[in-house]
Amino acid sequence: DADKLVTSPNLTSCHQSYGRDDLLVDCCPPEIAATQKFIDFTFPDPSTPQRVRRPAHLLDDDYIAKYNKAVSIMKSLPYSDPRSFRRQADMHCIYCTGAYNKKYSNNVSLNIHGSWFFFPWHRMYLYFHERILRSFIDDDVFALPFWNWDSPDGMTIPEMFLNHEALSHIQRDASHFPPRVVDFDFKGEESGLGPEEQVEKNLAMMYHQMVSGAKNTGLFMGCAYYPGEGGFCDGPGTLELVPHNTLHAWVGSSFNPQREDMGAFYSAARDPIFYAHHSNIDRMWEVWMELHGKAIDDPARLGSYFYFYDENLQLVRVKVSDVVNITNLGYAYEKVDLPWLNKRP
Ligand code: C2O
Repeated sequence: DADKLVTSPNLTSCHQSYGRDDLLVDCCPPEIAATQKFIDFTFPDPSTPQRVRRPAHLLDDDYIAKYNKAVSIMKSLPYSDPRSFRRQADMHCIYCTGAYNKKYSNNVSLNIHGSWFFFPWHRMYLYFHERILRSFIDDDVFALPFWNWDSPDGMTIPEMFLNHEALSHIQRDASHFPPRVVDFDFKGEESGLGPEEQVEKNLAMMYHQMVSGAKNTGLFMGCAYYPGEGGFCDGPGTLELVPHNTLHAWVGSSFNPQREDMGAFYSAARDPIFYAHHSNIDRMWEVWMELHGKAIDDPARLGSYFYFYDENLQLVRVKVSDVVNITNLGYAYEKVDLPWLNKRP
């Protein structure tokens, strides 16, 4: 059975999971997923207009008002609705704290972090999140913003996430609000660097994570998650470690044990900035493929699948092979400069 070679969740297995060593959380859907019929993903009609994700710091008031409105509608829905903001956040919690077991395994939990599923899973997640947001507003070309933290102009928390009700968030470190420059090397302590030095350091780290330290797929994508009973891995790729993990912690509140909300997997997606952060991660996957001319070709990886709700409350099964080409998904990233490309340290 070829299906046994791929990785996928057992939908009937959802259980409590550890959000932190000392915190058991329950992020499982209230409805029993096993009784939910799913459909297989199909590509959007190629005649639909392409949606362009743009840098958060360049978007205008009209865009911000629209995005804020869509998120506020999402936040107003009850927990029973899988489109609700909290259910969206809990979807991340489920897959990122190991609340599902892997199919065909005896209680081996499935965690998409620290492995090659990091990029494709988050791409799927954002894709459906964006479709749901779009369905709430009258804008057929609405697309998520990306937090352009790899460029000096984007190296602060984008303003839209500070002063708009649905997009701002309490559980953050206020000492990191603008004009504070992000610290790619953040490990809980302030770098003490001035803004220019910090920018230069970030750019040099970016060069390493995207170019010199990421010459092959294993280095960039992380540990190959092969199926089987013991199938487990915890080996993040370059970009997942830095700046993905470090910026999660940098945004979260210093008053919480793991700098929640952004600092811990179970709570990270409760902060609206999560989606713009991951939009840039997703963009970097595109950039890396362009720079290195590499794509995913492993059948076990391409055939692996996960489940998401769409804007019609329909559960959809999506394969990794469905999301390797974003043109087929109907979106693109605005081309912006890559100021780190010539920053060999
Ligand atoms: Cu699933 Cu940025 O984490």
